[in-house]
Formats: sequence, C-alpha cells, structure tokens
Amino acid sequence: MGRILEIKNVSAGYEDEIVLRDINLIVNDTDFIGIIGPNGGGKTTLLKVILGLIRPYQGTVNFFEGNQVKSETSIGYLPQINQIDRQFPITVINVVLSGLMSKEGIFGRYSGNQKKLAEELLGRLGILNLKKKNIGELSGGQLQRVYLCRAIISSPRLLMLDEPSTFVDTKFETDFFGTLKQLNKEMAIIVVSHDVGTISWYVKTIACVNRNLHYHPSNIITQEQLASYNCPIQIITHGDVPHTVLEIHKH
Ligand SMILES: Nc1ncnc2c1ncn2[C@@H]1O[C@H](COP(=O)(O)OP(=O)(O)OP(=O)(O)O)[C@@H](O)[C@H]1O
Ligand SMILES: [Mg+2]
Repeated sequence: MGRILEIKNVSAGYEDEIVLRDINLIVNDTDFIGIIGPNGGGKTTLLKVILGLIRPYQGTVNFFEGNQVKSETSIGYLPQINQIDRQFPITVINVVLSGLMSKEGIFGRYSGNQKKLAEELLGRLGILNLKKKNIGELSGGQLQRVYLCRAIISSPRLLMLDEPSTFVDTKFETDFFGTLKQLNKEMAIIVVSHDVGTISWYVKTIACVNRNLHYHPSNIITQEQLASYNCPIQIITHGDVPHTVLEIHKH
C-alpha cells in the first residue's frame, strides 16, 4: 500500500482567521476517508490545503510516489455545489472533458477516445441524455453527477468530494456511494459529508474536523469522545467503521 500524501503540523486559514490548527493526516492508496464536522469547522478549507489552493501558515503537505517526495499528485476534486459557477455557458460533455484540461489546454481539441470516455462516464452515472445541455439547465443533483464525471475522467490517484449528496435523492445517493465504492478500487477517496448515516456504510475510516484540532492516530473512539467534537455520533454508531479522529487541540 503506497502513501499518497502526508499533512504534518499544518495550520491554515484566511487573512483574518486561523481555521485549522496543527493538523496531521496521512492518506494511503486504498483509503476511503469520510470527513465529518460542524458547519464552518474547516472541512472545505482542509481540502483546499490538500489541493494547494491555500498555503498553510505552518507545516507541510507532501505527496509521495514510492519513496520519492513530490510537490503534487493527480487529484480529482468535486467542489461543494455552491462554489460551482452555473452561469458559465458550457455544455455537460465539455464540463466532463475539461477534467482533462491539464493535459489538453482549456478549450483544447479532444480526441475521439476522450469523447468516448466522457460519454461512458456520463452513461455510468445515468445522465448521458444530458450531454448537450448547458449546465445552467441542470438540477443540483444532475450537476453533481456531471462534476463527478469531470473529477474522475483523468483517473486521478486521489478523488476528493465536498458534500456530494447535498442535492441528490435517496436512490441516487445509494447509487452514488456504490459508484464511489467501485472507484475506490482504483483510487483513494476523501468525501466530506453531513450525512454520516450514509457515508458510514461506505467509507473505511472517519475523520472529524472541527477547527482547532490535531490528529489522533488510528483511534477507535467512543461515543463520549466523538460527542465533544460536535459530530452526529448517534448515526455513526450503526456502522462497523474504524474511526480516525482529528482531535481538538487542548492548550
Ligand atoms: N474564502 C474565505 N475567506 C475567508 N474566510 C473563509 C473563506 N472560506 C471559509 N472561510 C471561513 O473559514 C471557516 C471554515 O470554513 P470551511 O468552509 O472550511 O468550513 P466547512 O467545515 O467546510 O463548513 P460547511 O459544513 O458549512 O461547508 C469559516 O469560519 C468560514 O467563514
Ligand atoms: Mg464546506
């Protein structure tokens, strides 16, 4: 099992606010980590640190290939839906293909094989019929499926999803997490969700993120411990899931 990334003693935030303090986390190739925590706890900020969109004030984020340390790795990212610009005039198929952007340049020409791959992914998610629609015409759930296709089209080593089930109905949510479980055979996954009831059936470990926190390595935690992190523990407990806890930092 290879190591993908290591976050070491990272503190990060925005101009006027430190959001994450002293975070430690290791992500390996076969991981499927669910991240839970209260609104404003820093979950999205943590994903942005991993993506390199926010530079930590302190600490390091290192990526690995074998024993080599790299400055980056291939990451597929499904942003939280309210951060997606729906006004941008672009068709579904082109959104999916834009996931190949780094290789092809933004409005680059795509090969027949790449278009076929995009269509296969849309088919797999049950939305091939939408391929020519403008993204402004889609429902929230449809848009999320389109962005999942975009996130995985380049076969990334790590897939990160920020609250992917906010807009989807129960049936699709089950299909969606089933799809993620399949994808986890090919890539590591980090998924942020408020719906702990659903994710606890699928993920392998759970990390709880709540602002000033630090990593407590591979811990099986009790309900009492989790309660202090402000997480909806009563739902977690029905799944037989080992929990990885990012513990509140006590000064
Ligand atoms: N671009 C930004 N500029 C300044 N502050 C920000 C920015 N984005 C987030 N914050 C602040 O950082 C804190 C953590 O936000 P973050 O979005 O990481 O939380 P979250 O756990 O993802 O919350 P949610 O469950 O609501 O998505 C919040 O207090 C938020 O106001
Ligand atoms: Mg968020």
